[in-house]
Amino acid sequence: MHLSRLELDQFRLYSHMELDIPRPGLRISGRNASGKTSLLEALVMLSTTRSPRAAADREIVNWSSGSEYGVRPYVRIDAGFETRDGPGSAGIRLELDPERQSVIHKQFLLDSRPVRAHDSVGAIKCVLFSPEDVFLVSGAPSERRRQIDILISQCDRAYLTSLTQYGKVLSQRNQLLKQFARVRRSSRDIGAVTELSFWDEELVAAGSTVMAYRHMIAARIADLVRARSAVLVDDVEIGIAYVPKLPIYPGSLVGEVKRDRDVVASQFQAAVEQARGEEFRRGMTVVGPHRDDFVFMISERELAAFGSRGQQRLGVVAYRLAEIDVIDQQSGERPILLLDDVLSELDSVHRNMLLTAVAECDCQLLVTSTDASLLDHPVLASLPAAEVRDGTVWRLA
Ligand SMILES: Nc1ncnc2c1ncn2[C@@H]1O[C@H](COP(=O)(O)OP(=O)(O)OP(=O)(O)O)[C@@H](O)[C@H]1O
Ligand SMILES: [Mg+2]
Repeated sequence: MHLSRLELDQFRLYSHMELDIPRPGLRISGRNASGKTSLLEALVMLSTTRSPRAAADREIVNWSSGSEYGVRPYVRIDAGFETRDGPGSAGIRLELDPERQSVIHKQFLLDSRPVRAHDSVGAIKCVLFSPEDVFLVSGAPSERRRQIDILISQCDRAYLTSLTQYGKVLSQRNQLLKQFARVRRSSRDIGAVTELSFWDEELVAAGSTVMAYRHMIAARIADLVRARSAVLVDDVEIGIAYVPKLPIYPGSLVGEVKRDRDVVASQFQAAVEQARGEEFRRGMTVVGPHRDDFVFMISERELAAFGSRGQQRLGVVAYRLAEIDVIDQQSGERPILLLDDVLSELDSVHRNMLLTAVAECDCQLLVTSTDASLLDHPVLASLPAAEVRDGTVWRLA
């Protein structure tokens, strides 16, 4: 798929911006703080409903939004795109309460019609690659889970439904367990266990679907990361392994969500029963996909502990490139590739490797850099160029 247009009103430093995006993409240069990342951020928000960097939605609203017209601070993001099924558009509207700086209205649009946030996910499919991504290897498991969740949700909305349901059940179940722990009810209290059993069932039903999807995608991505890294990094093999908190017997899964879901469910149910005493004592759910991890490996060892900084960075490159193929395999669409200032992070050998892989991936590419000369690389030379200056985008001849 590819984008054809992006329009922003009151988004970050952009008060108003309209940009036609050519089929191959754009190489975008601009000084620090000119607005490069904000452009890509708006696209990721359309794709996933959330900003990849803002802790709260109010952060994306232009600081002076609303004041000049005497209206509430607001944001408008709109993009036009083309998929195999034809043209489409996606949009977000956001309004703030000026007193409390809280969001009072957030609306998602597809083809100009309001839709639930959930249904807008993945209408635009993109893969973002930014310098902070090295935390994917060395950071907390929650960040890796988030990335895998975004990836699978872009491919299949049924996953997002199960994930959302799991989150709700987990929170209800934790509340009940916390209450039990407070009044010291024990796991031998049949009344308490019966009260919990409804939530056990819901937890296992939603959670086993989440885990079956994660297992299937992790297996695909592991093969792709291995293949990509073999080309990118000489003589070492980088892999990624799904490490569920709950033990799943090796070989018991076949990589088909419908079948694997039932197999995981019986193992999940057994683990819940086994953890009963600990859960009552600690007042929380201790097994389940909310504690899963995905670990990067280098030649059978953990990349975070044993890989050099450069190897970790290349692990991330291989992972992002693998995401493109997974989205294509699952949805039949090549996603849009967003490279935010990553070229200056790599030495020239690895930059060439990355750009050669990018050239072969046949995606629309939006690539940014503070250093325009890095964007003059032969692989990027055919991309139309643009420059961002203080929240205005200029197309260069
Ligand atoms: N809500 C907001 N309203 C107005 N300006 C904002 C808002 N949020 C951030 N900014 C400002 O927008 C500017 C551009 O930020 P952005 O991250 O897009 O720049 P960038 O070109 O990617 O910079 P760098 O090269 O340093 O990564 C910064 O000066 C930032 O302080
Ligand atoms: Mg930036």
